[in-house]
Amino acid sequence: MRVIIQPDTQGVARWAARYIAARINGKNGGRFVIGLPTGSTPVETYKELIKLHKAGKVSFANVVTFNMDEYAGLPADHPQSYRTFMWRNFFDHIDINPQNVNLLDGNAPDAETECTSYEEKIAAAGGIDLFLGGIGSDGHVAFNEPFSSMTSRTRVKSLTAETIAANSRFFGGDVAKVPKLALTVGVGTVMDAREVVILATGHGKARALHHVIEGAYSHVWTASALQTHPRGMIVCDDAATYELRVGTARYFLDIEKDNLDPATIAL
Ligand code: GLP
Repeated sequence: MRVIIQPDTQGVARWAARYIAARINGKNGGRFVIGLPTGSTPVETYKELIKLHKAGKVSFANVVTFNMDEYAGLPADHPQSYRTFMWRNFFDHIDINPQNVNLLDGNAPDAETECTSYEEKIAAAGGIDLFLGGIGSDGHVAFNEPFSSMTSRTRVKSLTAETIAANSRFFGGDVAKVPKLALTVGVGTVMDAREVVILATGHGKARALHHVIEGAYSHVWTASALQTHPRGMIVCDDAATYELRVGTARYFLDIEKDNLDPATIAL
């Protein structure tokens, strides 16, 4: 696993956005399939990608997207639905073909069929080239809460009290307003991507990063599945490394020293 440590949130956003843009450009106009997260962490990365797009450095015309997850039962146009989030924070500002945008329908009459057909759609698109993710403070990836199967596929999951409490900040601080269920890609779905990039910023993610990077491969911290991925990477800020051993952080800073400046990623 690669770990790219940046001084701050802005550094994470700039580095990750340039990396993704370079990957898209590497297809020379061919189709690029990307898995995308919501949450507060990726917002700055989306802003940087929008900037790169507006500067003519990257086009999303041939990019196909699959979002990771969606709350169950929240109206699609609810301000906190992940569908609303994605259009507001990203898709509305780039040249993506709306037909290339795939989002789980949290109001599908048959959630199980919705999840199965999502997996089929990913397969039909040729699989995911790069899955971008965030991480929960309990180490979850997408909505794969602790003890989710490391080979899980897209399905309905119940959210833990910790996640509901964390996400209540988007619902006026009222835990009662946070949906209790979500549709989410599985850990296996994420790990099937040809490359996985996880973003983590702030002290609140330090404990999770310690377990995911230095701990055992374990369904307790589902993002630790990244340890077995041939192309897994964490892009984090300094604050998120506070629970890593000094030696671990120094190791990654040293081994990546020539790659840390976002400007080294050619576009
Ligand atoms: C939710 C999402 C995850 C996200 C996590 C962290 O649980 N399902 O995909 O990684 O929140 O969110 P934030 O980036 O706001 O800390």
